[in-house]
Amino acid sequence: ASESYVLGIETSCDDTAAAVVLRRADGSCRILSNEVWAQHDDHAAYGGVVPEIAARSHVERLDATIEKAVAAAGVDYDQLAAVAATAGPGLVGGVMVGLTAAKAVALAHDLPLFPINHLEGHALSVRLTEKAAFPYLLLLISGGHTQLIRVAGVGDYERLGTTIDDAAGESFDKTAKLLGLGAPGGPMIEAAAVGGRTDRFALPEPLKRREGCDFSFSGLKTAVREAAEGIPSPTGQDVADIAASFQIAAARHLAQRTEKAMGIMGSHGEGRLVAAGGVAANCTIKKMLQQLCAANSWRLIVPPPKYCTDNGAMIAWAGAERLAAGLIPDQAEAMRLAPRA
Ligand code: KG4
Ligand code: ZN
Repeated sequence: ASESYVLGIETSCDDTAAAVVLRRADGSCRILSNEVWAQHDDHAAYGGVVPEIAARSHVERLDATIEKAVAAAGVDYDQLAAVAATAGPGLVGGVMVGLTAAKAVALAHDLPLFPINHLEGHALSVRLTEKAAFPYLLLLISGGHTQLIRVAGVGDYERLGTTIDDAAGESFDKTAKLLGLGAPGGPMIEAAAVGGRTDRFALPEPLKRREGCDFSFSGLKTAVREAAEGIPSPTGQDVADIAASFQIAAARHLAQRTEKAMGIMGSHGEGRLVAAGGVAANCTIKKMLQQLCAANSWRLIVPPPKYCTDNGAMIAWAGAERLAAGLIPDQAEAMRLAPRA
């Protein structure tokens, strides 16, 4: 495969994002631009992402975000080899906005359109900045998903485990809300936990006796609520202690289930664990996974935080990888494709 510039568009949740990446003939990547317009302020008053507001904000900002990404990359539309956009899963209004814009760009500039599964974007995001060879074990931890996946190649994924209730990021977001910390919950909990005691509250170890690699976070959330309710007027230290206890319990649970998946992968994982998705930006979780890998002589690879959270570069890159692998979607079908919730 030769060099290709690909435009990527991501609008599945509350980030309006577009980016241009270059995939070189040797398979390496250069990120030429990565524009992300985070909508946190639009949703702040509601204590969570409001789908209708998210969709409207994407409508208002996406065109300018795409223009900015293309201009910042220093390329012309006719230099692009393809346009890629998240086609789901996500909030359907937002996905619709991004996918429709991508169809328009593809038609206007006669480019192939790559509808991308959002999870594939996260799954391959590590290869934006690292030469992570296939296969690897992926721990995908985001606001909507918590999965362990064997990534054998582009388009070749085997799910080993998933959450049976809340997603990891969702549990951070709900816990932050409960503690009155605001959004986005993950970074708020991480900041609040600094200086907190991790051993003050005995939180449960989810699915301790259950085989396999599934996750569960709703029990932790309930235990945190009960701990918080036991302190009628909490001090800053109380909040720090609860946040720290929750964070370490979540990190332990993630590491414990990941260890089981490492066992299933055996030598087939080639000893590579990749953590991706917004929650992989968390330092306590990274440290715990690092210890797990060190104990098993595995290597941990985590993309930089800005490529862990939702971004256009990972979607552009998934398109570029598919293009290089010859996995070109039927264009009539791609143009008819409806967004997937
Ligand atoms: O991957 P992402 O940007 O969007 C989804 O696909 O969901 O992940 C967002 C999630 C949110 O739940 C957010 O609270 C969480 O990632 N997150 C974190 C951190 N930064 C973002 N969770 C824990 N610690 C962080 N530092
Ligand atoms: Zn995501």
